[in-house]
Amino acid sequence: MTHLIDGKKWALLSREETKQACAILTQEGRQPGLTVVLVGEDPASQTYVRGKEKAATEAGMQSAIIRLEATITQDELLAVIYRLNQDPHVHGILVQLPLPKHIDDQVIIDAIAIEKDVDGFHATNVGALALGLTGFVPCTPLGIMRMLAYENISLSGKHAVVIGRSNIVGKPMAQLLLKANATVTICHSKTENLGQITRQADILISAVGKAHLVKADMVKEGAVVIDVGMNRLDGKLVGDVDFENVKEVASAITPVPGGVGPMTIAMLLHNTVQAASNVTS
Ligand code: GUN
Repeated sequence: MTHLIDGKKWALLSREETKQACAILTQEGRQPGLTVVLVGEDPASQTYVRGKEKAATEAGMQSAIIRLEATITQDELLAVIYRLNQDPHVHGILVQLPLPKHIDDQVIIDAIAIEKDVDGFHATNVGALALGLTGFVPCTPLGIMRMLAYENISLSGKHAVVIGRSNIVGKPMAQLLLKANATVTICHSKTENLGQITRQADILISAVGKAHLVKADMVKEGAVVIDVGMNRLDGKLVGDVDFENVKEVASAITPVPGGVGPMTIAMLLHNTVQAASNVTS
C-alpha cells in the first residue's frame, strides 16, 4: 500500500508554528508584514495571490496586495518596489510571476531588497543557496524538503531525479537535495530517454506543468514521488503524475491538490516571519 503524503496536514502544523512566532513578534511591536504585487489579471495568478494574502492574514501578519495594470512600465513597477523596500512595515515582498512580456522578471526581482526577498528569487539569494550560505530559499522546494523531513524520508546517498529546470522549482530543488547529500539528476524537455532515468530514482520530483507526464512504467517500485504540477485536465486540477496508476508502484506519493501546494504557502509565511525577525533596530 502506498503512503499518501498529506501536504495539508504538514502545512497546518508549519503554519501553527509560524502563527506562534508571528504573535511573539507582534507583541514586541514588530508585526510581520507581507506585500504581494500582482501585475495584470491572469486568473491563476489572482487565485494564488488571494490564497497567499488570506494565509498571511490568518497567521496574524499585516498583509496587502498591490494590484497593478498589465500596461504598467518596467520603471513604474521598479518605483513600486523601491517604495516597498523603504517601508519598515513591509518585511516580505512577493512579485507574482509571470510578469507581462514587456517587463524583465529578473530586473524586477533583483530590485527587491535582499532581506525582503521572501521568494528567494533574488540573484544574491540564488547564489547563497548555490554556495551553501544563509539566505531565503524558494518556497516550493523548501516546502518539499520540510515535508520529506516530517515524513522521515532519508535523502543521503539516495538518487533523486528532478524533472524540470525552472528557477522557481527545479534548480533550487536540485541544490537543496544536493545539500542533503542526495545524488541528483535534473531532467528537462530536451532529456532523451526520460523514463530510463526516472526509473532509477529513489525520490522522483516532477515540476514541469504537463498533465500525467509521469506514468507508472517510469517509476521504480518503492520510489517516493513528489508532484509539483498544477494542470487543468478536462476541467479538473491534476498534477504531472498519473496519480491513480503511479500510486500502485510508489511507496509514498503527494496528491494534487493537497500535496506540495499547501506547503508552498506555509513556507512563504515561514520566510516572512524570518524576514521580520531578522530586522534589528
Ligand atoms: N508564480 C508561480 N509560482 C510562484 C512563486 O512561488 N512565487 C512567485 N512570486 N510567483 C510565482
